Amino acid sequence: MKSLNPEHHNFQSHLKKLSGLVEDRLSVCFSGLSVPAELYESMSYSLLAGGKRIRPVLFLSWAEMLGTEPDKILDFACGIEMIHTYSLVHDDLPAMDDDELRRGRPTNHKVFGEALAILAGDGLLTHAFHMMACTDLPAADVLAACAEISRAAGPAGMVGGQVVDIMATRSNKMDLDSLKKMHSMKTGALIRSSCVSGALLAKSRGAGKIDAANAVSFGESIGLAFQIVDDILDVIGDEKSLGKQVGSDESRDKATYPRFFGLEASKKLAQESVDRAKKSLAPYHGKEKNFLMDLSQYVVDRVC
Ligand code: IPE
Ligand code: IPE
Ligand code: MG
Ligand code: MG
Ligand code: MG
Repeated sequence: MKSLNPEHHNFQSHLKKLSGLVEDRLSVCFSGLSVPAELYESMSYSLLAGGKRIRPVLFLSWAEMLGTEPDKILDFACGIEMIHTYSLVHDDLPAMDDDELRRGRPTNHKVFGEALAILAGDGLLTHAFHMMACTDLPAADVLAACAEISRAAGPAGMVGGQVVDIMATRSNKMDLDSLKKMHSMKTGALIRSSCVSGALLAKSRGAGKIDAANAVSFGESIGLAFQIVDDILDVIGDEKSLGKQVGSDESRDKATYPRFFGLEASKKLAQESVDRAKKSLAPYHGKEKNFLMDLSQYVVDRVC
């Protein structure tokens, strides 16, 4: 790992700790519910197939930097990961990107069929809000955080961005501003709102509007960098380590950063976006801030 902040030697171990907390809680998140066996299998198949858990980790680390301990908000973190997983299950469907490999396994619809894949996505999305709403913190803060996530995941955020993506694919027309907007909606919105909701759930620890605004600008920049990197990896990545097919964007004529700018300029733009994110952390100090600095760099180090 390059560019690690020298004061923070524990990046890898803290990343492992936070993602491990999420992993453990995800493995029991349907317990006690009476769910039809096929649906349970299908939801668990995609949810528990690994994944970087970057959104819940961003959420937990913003909250932690502002004073809220990760163990208090793990259900909320799981909700965010469920929304992300549902978006992947639906993104892979034949009517959308029609992909066959995800998180190192055949895609959900390849194993369970399209109807169950659609319903598993629906189940994950809906149960996510149950998990988030049950967070044991002041109700007004939980409500504000749920409102933030639902706006970002909905028609003016991720769902809207996915529509722009498929429309652009069909018409094969897109200018740069629309490409940036599409990335910020389909991927940036959930990443940004993960950071912002972490800040909102630290309100009882003294976090305020300025912290939420810093989380917005940080999340916006990390979100854009994340999708640029995802686009680059679709060109230069390796199927085995990514756990999904490469060359999928090219074969579907997708509007991507490498297509607009080429690979090298895209890498530069991703790094610039990460540098902007790091600037939003200027008011903060300590090991939690350093962790977020390293986490930002980690997003782009996947390709640089
Ligand atoms: C892939 O997300 C889809 C995008 C929005 C770019 P991730 O790269 O976070 O996928 P997982 O969760 O690690 O599988
Ligand atoms: C996905 O973008 C965005 C989502 C909201 C799921 P991609 O279609 O590029 O994601 P991958 O490459 O299939 O993971
Ligand atoms: Mg897609
Ligand atoms: Mg896709
Ligand atoms: Mg992609």
